[in-house]
Amino acid sequence: MKKYSGPNLDRDHFFFRRCAAPLLAIGFLVQASAAHTQSDERVKAGLMTWRSSGCADCHGAFADGDKQRDEAPTGANLRTTRLDAAALKQTISCGRPGTGMPAFDEGAYKVRACNGQPLGPPPSDLYPTPRTLTPDEIDAVVTYLQARVIGKGRTITKAECLFYYSDQPEWCDDYK
Ligand code: HEC
Repeated sequence: MKKYSGPNLDRDHFFFRRCAAPLLAIGFLVQASAAHTQSDERVKAGLMTWRSSGCADCHGAFADGDKQRDEAPTGANLRTTRLDAAALKQTISCGRPGTGMPAFDEGAYKVRACNGQPLGPPPSDLYPTPRTLTPDEIDAVVTYLQARVIGKGRTITKAECLFYYSDQPEWCDDYK
């Protein structure tokens, strides 16, 4: 007579080791890389916005304050800025009245409050903006700045240059 041996733990264990565990691991990796790709996409979208919004005219391509357009106001060095995400968003959206920093949010001051002021007409001493951005585009620029610019130090590396000029890698020949 066959002896009853209870639930077949060995087989369950085998199943887990050989099948379920690797499947779980694969699932985890797929998920992790999907999340990674998503944030990569977001950083790239932010870079595209940076490149197409005139930021580099005043701040320089690599945001170190080495402006690209001579006649433009000289922008701050963003590589060494101490602003957090909220302050970055506020500065880009609302600009800095009385300085060369324009307000990029079309609804700034009028439909979205700036600097804790009641809604109303924007201050008259704002520098004119080269173009406006949606709040989502502004978020993407902040993501880009935090991922690739802020805290990266004064020296621009070749890898950084190639990320920025992926369409013109020869412009990075002089970087190490
Ligand atoms: C017309 C020139 C000009 C353009 C275009 C411009 N900036 Fe600025 N930006 C400035 C100047 C000038 C300052 C310094 C303001 C001050 O004196 O406080 C500044 C300051 C900033 C700051 C605050 C830095 C700090 O540490 O206080 C951020 C962030 C910033 N700019 C981001 C951007 C982004 C992102 C863009 C493009 C979407 C952009 N700027 C476009 C001129 C410009």
